[in-house]
Amino acid sequence: MKIFLDTANLKEIREGVALGVVDGITTNPSLLAKESGDPEQILLEICRTVNGPISAEVVATDAEGMVREGRHWAAVHENIVVKCPCTIEGLKATKLLTAEGHRVNMTLIFSPTQALLAAKAGARFVSPFVGRLDDIATPGMELVGDILRIFRNYDYACEVLAASLRHPMHVVEAARLGAHIGTMPFSVFAGLLKHPLTDIGLKRFLEDWEKAKKDLGTKAPR
Ligand code: G3P
Repeated sequence: MKIFLDTANLKEIREGVALGVVDGITTNPSLLAKESGDPEQILLEICRTVNGPISAEVVATDAEGMVREGRHWAAVHENIVVKCPCTIEGLKATKLLTAEGHRVNMTLIFSPTQALLAAKAGARFVSPFVGRLDDIATPGMELVGDILRIFRNYDYACEVLAASLRHPMHVVEAARLGAHIGTMPFSVFAGLLKHPLTDIGLKRFLEDWEKAKKDLGTKAPR
């Protein structure tokens, strides 16, 4: 599974990239609004930092405006993927943008039929929002499974990008299902590696090694 960070924070992105396992970045208007500075400059810097797909979302709600904004984002850097919401206008814009050769990530996907239409319109990625469905007592991960099952029946060049992942178990479940990509906040990403038994085990190995080195002086050579 490819791992994307769901953040526009360059410090987090640089920290993640240094680990060598970050394949891309997703941003949205809320995430960019949390950062100080010009969103376009932030996106450009993200693109220079991560050699992979970087989602930049349109904020227009009509197809014409989405296409205009999408073209603008796509011109910022070749890594940019235009993110369009899964609405009627978003679908029209996706069709037009993909026909021009731009990659589109259809976002705010909450049903398998939305994902199916997005793939048919040429979207390169669909983003089902797992956590937000869980929030309304609907099993979000079932949506990821449904979309994957549907896509396996056909030849859509569309990857399932499990989004709104809120904790490491969401990541495990998305990987079990075979989601192509999981995008997550940096805090969730950091939690993927941590294990207290690893820390305890390492501490014990190092202590034993130090002790053995000390004892070496007192032991007779073999
Ligand atoms: O990638 C989608 C993500 O930004 C939404 O996450 O936690 O706000 O539902 P969340």
